[in-house]
Amino acid sequence: IKEKAEEVAEFAALYVMKKINSHKCGPGRFYVLGLPTGSTPLGMYKKLVEYYRNGRVSFKYVKTFNMDEYVGLPQNHPESYHSFMYNNFFSHIDIDPKNVHILNGNASDFDLECENYEKMINEAGGIDLFVGGIGSDGHIAFNEPGSSLSSRTRIKTLNADTIQANARFFGGDLSQVPTQALTVGVQTVMDAKEVMILITGAHKALALHQAIEGGITHMCTVSAMQLHRTAMFVADEDATLEL
Ligand code: GLP
Repeated sequence: IKEKAEEVAEFAALYVMKKINSHKCGPGRFYVLGLPTGSTPLGMYKKLVEYYRNGRVSFKYVKTFNMDEYVGLPQNHPESYHSFMYNNFFSHIDIDPKNVHILNGNASDFDLECENYEKMINEAGGIDLFVGGIGSDGHIAFNEPGSSLSSRTRIKTLNADTIQANARFFGGDLSQVPTQALTVGVQTVMDAKEVMILITGAHKALALHQAIEGGITHMCTVSAMQLHRTAMFVADEDATLEL
């Protein structure tokens, strides 16, 4: 628990940097990161860019897999997760674009796209550290309430609460928010060697309570992390109001 959201961001960025730097990365030895979008991880990305600019970390031997992507939004749409990741992170660091993996929400065959994504994660040797945020209903990636806790990468229909929450990125216009997304499954996250969930703000307090003090349930998919050996939640004080 950190006092403020900025300290959550700093802790997360330092943690990621430390992991990359201690991995002894090099040709044929990549550190594999799972990455989230959303407003919560923005501060972490900003800090990581700062550390890169100060020469404290390099992403040359890092591979990334993003959690999710909207279906049907052009890749260059300002609110696509592809744009989000390049605008806020990838364009500012030395990562090789061929080591960046983001689901293609415009693929002609979604099942094949999702199957290949899982294959690529396996071929990369699995994810070393999956960083995530959570929705206020306790979803991780786009694993909405009711998702199977054994789920793998697939297409999901977004629920009304999520569409409502994300409308702020689409000028508040609900009709502009995509209704489906491709997302890694709960099990895809569980398979990562380490998981770090960032959670800030009083509006997430109930979700954090359900996630770590409630039972494990598919109605709060992040609660599955209770079964992960090394999952860690990094929260600001506001998010702990219901603990
Ligand atoms: C979306 C994303 C999630 C993210 C959530 C919370 O639903 N698919 O990965 O955790 O938003 O976003 P924010 O951090 O903006 O609250």
